[in-house]
Amino acid sequence: MKIAIVGATGLVGTNIINLCEQYFDVGIEYSLFASKSSEGKKIKINDKELTVKELNKENIGEYNISLFSAGGERSKEYATNFIDNGSFVIDNSSVFRMNDEVPLVVYGINENIITKESKLISNPNCTTMGLVMALKPLHDRYTLSSMTPVAYQAVSGSGSEAIKSLEKENLLGDKLDANYQQAYYTNPIARNVIPLAGSLTDNGYSDEEMKFVHESRKILSIPDLVVEPSNARVGVRTGHGTFCSAVFENEVDLEECTDLLNNFEGVEVWNDSLPTPIDVEGKDEVLVSRLRQGLSSKNILNFWVVSDNLLKGAALNAVQIAKFVEKL
Ligand SMILES: NC(=O)c1ccc[n+]([C@@H]2O[C@H](COP(=O)([O-])OP(=O)(O)OC[C@H]3O[C@@H](n4cnc5c(N)ncnc54)[C@H](OP(=O)(O)O)[C@@H]3O)[C@@H](O)[C@H]2O)c1
Repeated sequence: MKIAIVGATGLVGTNIINLCEQYFDVGIEYSLFASKSSEGKKIKINDKELTVKELNKENIGEYNISLFSAGGERSKEYATNFIDNGSFVIDNSSVFRMNDEVPLVVYGINENIITKESKLISNPNCTTMGLVMALKPLHDRYTLSSMTPVAYQAVSGSGSEAIKSLEKENLLGDKLDANYQQAYYTNPIARNVIPLAGSLTDNGYSDEEMKFVHESRKILSIPDLVVEPSNARVGVRTGHGTFCSAVFENEVDLEECTDLLNNFEGVEVWNDSLPTPIDVEGKDEVLVSRLRQGLSSKNILNFWVVSDNLLKGAALNAVQIAKFVEKL
């Protein structure tokens, strides 16, 4: 079997490589792609040194599965070339997610919608993915009708350049102030919280907030789900956290919620300690805590969920899907 990794030098691509080593046989043949500036770079997979190729039409061969994490423009331009050469494409960008004919898949929730014909599969937004993992078992039992998620998004969600900026800002210590001009974001992010993640859209919500709305509805198959999202960017390296107030059609029971969540593969409830981004960094599981019944209604569950945005939020889910596709 042949696997192509597009965006192999990035934060997500690097994690995809590590996970492919764990999930697939050593005999798999890999091809690695990135931009012209990474051409010729050497990367080891399964102790074998591979040379990164520039992503261009001439370099595209035949693969069984191609994992894309090189930004939406590359997905738009090249995904069909890979598909035309016979490959399944699992795409981490947002460009195809809301296309009706493209499955938007969270492994553990809805991978069974993938068929041999689903040549293009979208990996959902990282913040949404962590939240829906917690919501799915609760929805199956109590029927979700609306939710108010408030997300604290880590810097690695914006890629390598954002991390470089965070590291530079961290070194400035007390010299970093609100007037710092070289920040990756609109404001400095070290020691800070920016009350906007992503770019503003015409309705005053950010694109990241609107992903909560559209992608949750599609993944959970609740077309009329009411979502009132707010997303901030925080000076955390990795691990997106979300406080969510979820309203169900039925009364929730806290003990049963804990059991439902703990019995759902890939989710863990921490009742005795508080899971933070540092706790979840490098972990496959989505961590849930602070379960509280609503103050105004017994049908409300308030909770905290945190997940590694580079793993279940991106690379892990993509590789889990790839493993599923391999068996089709
Ligand atoms: N970070 C997350 O938590 C996360 C979560 C979900 C989805 N995603 C999505 O995953 C994608 C990658 O994110 P990331 O965080 O890994 O970003 P990143 O660290 O900035 O890496 C970007 C990758 O894309 C490659 N690339 C950039 N321009 C290219 C071009 N013109 N041709 C070919 N390759 C090019 C880069 O290659 P060079 O090294 O050669 O520049 C690098 O391998 C994005 O679409 C992002 O939205 C990210």
